[in-house]
Amino acid sequence: MLPFVFCGGGGANVSNTGVLKMKLSSVVVTLILTVGVSYYIYTPLPAAIEEPLKLMLLDALFRAMLQVGDLCQCLGLSHHIPWIRGTISGLETLGEMAGGQRGGVRVSDVDFDRVPVRVYEPPAAGGGEGGLRRAVMFYHGGGWALGATSKCMGSYDVLCRQMSDELNAVVVSVEYRLAPEVHFPVQYEDCLAAAKHFLEPGILGKLSVDPQRVAVSGDSAGGNLAAAVAQQISIDDSVSVKFSVQALIYPVLQGLDLNTPSHQQNHNIPILHRFIMARFWLLYLGVDTSLHPLLLSPSFLHHPSIPPSLRSHLNWTNLLPAKHIKHYKPVGMEMGSQEVMGQEGNLLPVLLDVRAAPLLAEQGVLGRTPRAYILTCEYDVLRDDGLMYTRRLQDAGVTVSSHHYDDGFHGALSFAHWPFFFDVGKRMIRGYMDWLQENL
Ligand SMILES: *[C@@H]1O[C@H](CO)[C@@H](O)[C@H](O)[C@H]1NC(C)=O
Repeated sequence: MLPFVFCGGGGANVSNTGVLKMKLSSVVVTLILTVGVSYYIYTPLPAAIEEPLKLMLLDALFRAMLQVGDLCQCLGLSHHIPWIRGTISGLETLGEMAGGQRGGVRVSDVDFDRVPVRVYEPPAAGGGEGGLRRAVMFYHGGGWALGATSKCMGSYDVLCRQMSDELNAVVVSVEYRLAPEVHFPVQYEDCLAAAKHFLEPGILGKLSVDPQRVAVSGDSAGGNLAAAVAQQISIDDSVSVKFSVQALIYPVLQGLDLNTPSHQQNHNIPILHRFIMARFWLLYLGVDTSLHPLLLSPSFLHHPSIPPSLRSHLNWTNLLPAKHIKHYKPVGMEMGSQEVMGQEGNLLPVLLDVRAAPLLAEQGVLGRTPRAYILTCEYDVLRDDGLMYTRRLQDAGVTVSSHHYDDGFHGALSFAHWPFFFDVGKRMIRGYMDWLQENL
């Protein structure tokens, strides 16, 4: 009879059994909701991942965002990407109060050869020789479709301020245009144009930057753009000042083989599930989403029009250390390529383009790129892209610092501040800063 104590109050006309029924049904509804929500949130995670519950919550939020976005798109309300952008920027506003303030860093929004960039200048006057400072050109991640630094106090803005402050460096974050409004090669071309403009001696001089100490860097899709731009700048004889280091944080480096051991192992690990990665590729390449199954198909890699020499550039049976291959085997050889014939016309040429897939570059090109830092996470579909690139750069004679996080997951570096922060994200930022501090 206890429930009546709380709700019996003014209900003179409601019979006791009626109230009991209402109470019971609300208990049942609550129970169903609780089970439903728990089921939605729960994702089995490897034991090595710290703070699993927090990651499950973050992942559920991302999935919900994608699903509501898809629903909006189905109903013809808007493309799902602008919706997701709006939600993320709303969440980042929540974090603004807690964002790491870097009082002295001067921020200005300008254009580099018509590409909008945000320039962070450190407080201290001068630095090294003759008052010259180091510099980092940074490309943010977000699947070539999301993300921006100009959102004040967003995670990328906080990272760039911290870099500028701690390294006493000029940091230039490039606001390249995004999918679905534009697609490949526009993102790449924006990044390249901004890089060429920045590296002009006159521009470096105006910002008091030491031309011997300019890094190019980026995370995830930004790591893809950084690697591709680093290659192009290295071989372009019209550019006299070159990048002196490249720092790639869990970069995407190829889209031909989405069945590497890391794709197999981590296909369902938050927050970059394998099917989401494939969707970002399709968005970037500007091709129809109906090609999603084709991109994921293991037989794609064995298409007869792919020259064996190119295929060897991403042959993980040769390029990965055994401890990362584990028990995984190449899949799909036996399926042949019949099923993909005829549909691949839109996809293959771009996926074979080194501007989209820097892992496929020739050794001679790789050998001209600067010293590298490559961060990889064990629990990331992109782990093997980074590890294979490490190996290919080393084979080409480039010095590579490979920082592998055994407990890392994709995107962790963007989650080092309230409301979503992970210890591993903080450690990654520390390691990245320390490497730049010593090597730039
Ligand atoms: C990768 O290399 C191995 C060993 O050299 C070879 O047997 C295999 O066919 C290659 N795989 C592909 C996809 O080319």
